[in-house]
Amino acid sequence: TLTQAEKAAVVTIWAKVATQADAIGAESLERLFSSYPQTKTYFPHFDLSQGSAQLRAHGSKVMNAIGEAVKNIDDIRGALAKLSELHAYILRVDPVNFRLLSHCILCSVAARYPSDFTPEAHAAWDKFLSSVSSVLTEKYR
Ligand code: HEM
Repeated sequence: TLTQAEKAAVVTIWAKVATQADAIGAESLERLFSSYPQTKTYFPHFDLSQGSAQLRAHGSKVMNAIGEAVKNIDDIRGALAKLSELHAYILRVDPVNFRLLSHCILCSVAARYPSDFTPEAHAAWDKFLSSVSSVLTEKYR
């Protein structure tokens, strides 16, 4: 669980990220698919070329879900319950991929807000994204 200070750090950076959520979402997916091309196998039905409409729309959905988790930081499990079932039962995404996407989201946030991305903010966001990933993969067990 996140400490009060970590929650505050997540909320503070989210306020900035939210203003550019679509661009950050798309960039995170571009980083995911170019650094870890095996993740593309989950999206055979997508046009994954850089800047494609599907990639941008999906990046926007992912960041929306992150925003819901930030708003419900004390009940991430409740906020993402439906998404958790989707990823586990329907999409069957291997849990290792959540680490990869989390890393790419971190990189995109860091690249855009370098001076806000202090070691403390980094650690708080890492922990937050790992909570989100745990919720989205816990139904597998
Ligand atoms: C769909 C969020 C991780 C693969 C979705 C949707 C959201 C979402 C909001 C749309 C659900 C809907 O349309 O109702 C997230 C979040 C993640 C995450 C917040 C972690 C931070 C992953 C990972 C993969 C993945 C790691 C695989 C590499 C997919 C696929 C779809 C999907 C294949 C369906 C796309 C489509 O056909 O429209 N995800 N996701 N997700 N996600 Fe994730």
